[in-house]
Amino acid sequence: MSLVDTETALAQTFASHGQSHVLRHLSSLTPSARVSFLTQLAEVDLALVARLAHGGEDAKLDFATLAPAPYVAIGNHAADARAHGEQLLRHGKIAAFTVAGGQGTRLGWRGPKGTYPATVVTGKPLFRVFAEQIAAAEKRFICAIPWYIMTSPLNDADTRAFFKDNNWFGRNPADTFLFPQGTLPSVTFDGKLMLETPGSLAVNPDGHGGAIRALHHSGALEDMHARGIAHMSYFQVDNPLVRIVDPIFLGLHAHSAGSSAEMSSKMVAKRDASEKVGVFCESAGKTVVVEYSDMPVELTNAVESDGRLRFNAGSIAIHAISVEFMTRLTHGSSTGDFALPFHRARKKVPYWCDAQGRTVEPTEPNATKFEAFVFDALALTAKSLVMETARIEEFAPIKNAAGDDSPASSHQIQSNRNAAWLERFGVKVPRRPNGDADASIEIAPETALEAADLANSALPREIKPGEEVVI
Ligand code: UD1
Repeated sequence: MSLVDTETALAQTFASHGQSHVLRHLSSLTPSARVSFLTQLAEVDLALVARLAHGGEDAKLDFATLAPAPYVAIGNHAADARAHGEQLLRHGKIAAFTVAGGQGTRLGWRGPKGTYPATVVTGKPLFRVFAEQIAAAEKRFICAIPWYIMTSPLNDADTRAFFKDNNWFGRNPADTFLFPQGTLPSVTFDGKLMLETPGSLAVNPDGHGGAIRALHHSGALEDMHARGIAHMSYFQVDNPLVRIVDPIFLGLHAHSAGSSAEMSSKMVAKRDASEKVGVFCESAGKTVVVEYSDMPVELTNAVESDGRLRFNAGSIAIHAISVEFMTRLTHGSSTGDFALPFHRARKKVPYWCDAQGRTVEPTEPNATKFEAFVFDALALTAKSLVMETARIEEFAPIKNAAGDDSPASSHQIQSNRNAAWLERFGVKVPRRPNGDADASIEIAPETALEAADLANSALPREIKPGEEVVI
């Protein structure tokens, strides 16, 4: 089709969906800008946008029957779980999978969140923290742990450049597989597409639930099959304390009661009712995550007779996911375009203002974004399980610039965890009246992947108040 024909066809389609306003600057674009804009427009699924704009697809949960999800409590896992997990690692059956396609707007960091300096003393960027952990596990289990990283079209080039500039953190470049997720247009509250510039639509990444489609389309899933990977260890880019390779969790996931779960999850007891984490619940016989913003306040605050929160199982967004399960989902759709339901969120989306002749950053939410959540796949599993873990061991997310889940709170948790590890080996660590470690303590993954590994390290006898220590 010629460019003119493409343009005419698109103009008709967009007009029939009441979206022709986005073409208003077409004639002023340079030829190449015109081609790239038309290409972007041709990829928009207008029927989907219309459906989402008029109602969305959020699963309607029956809150009256919602119950807390069952879980394996700390220390209650089968005795052979660790051995099973270690065997999977030694046989090269495990991949690491990071979702890093988010926009990270809350943190206010310019650049992919994985490039954010996260550790307490040396300020290692998140991607380096993960790479070093994976490398240490590869060395220990004498295996390759391929690392799949989902970016978005908005940060893919910057992420790739960062890996290249850092020489792939010393790992074999062939064992890191970066791929971008898809995007969806944002719409105004009356369902209209928005321009970000005269020649581009305002779009947002389609949520970490977009991972399923992106794993398929990028060839990542096929690559996993070719390498004989059976399970992926899924985690978010924002948590420097994540235990990427946790043999107990992986073993439990793959072997509990003799059969493999399709998707397993880690949970921690919620800090308090107001903590902004999803909660593991049971709905219609399935384990699901109900996002904090979707949970009715009376359920969020409900307590048991002993005063504990009834819905206490906070999601730290760490999952073990079977490759077969992902393959089953994508093969179930003829195009491989499997999509989980899209959730709606009111957000501030920069838009092109004709009157001002520039892109405007709104101060109030002005648009609806649509995102799929990977944990919605739990409801599609034949078998899933939730394992409890200790918050201090594995959860120190960096999401906000200040306050809870900020660099400062993450640093404190990292130091607290490292202090607890050292104290097990008799190191004297200064503590503040509230119990926090009164020192900045960093432990490199190469030194220890878990506390027990410190048995072979040279440790100080004592740490001084306010001291910075790297072990
Ligand atoms: C998330 C979870 C929440 C959980 C908490 C734990 C959601 C909706 N909520 O909250 O249940 O308790 O983490 O820390 O996930 N991402 C993409 N592509 C996207 C959107 C996000 O890759 O299109 C990635 C981000 O890069 C990040 C992760 O997903 O690694 C989480 O994203 P975010 O939307 O910030 O979720 P939270 O509100 O932090």
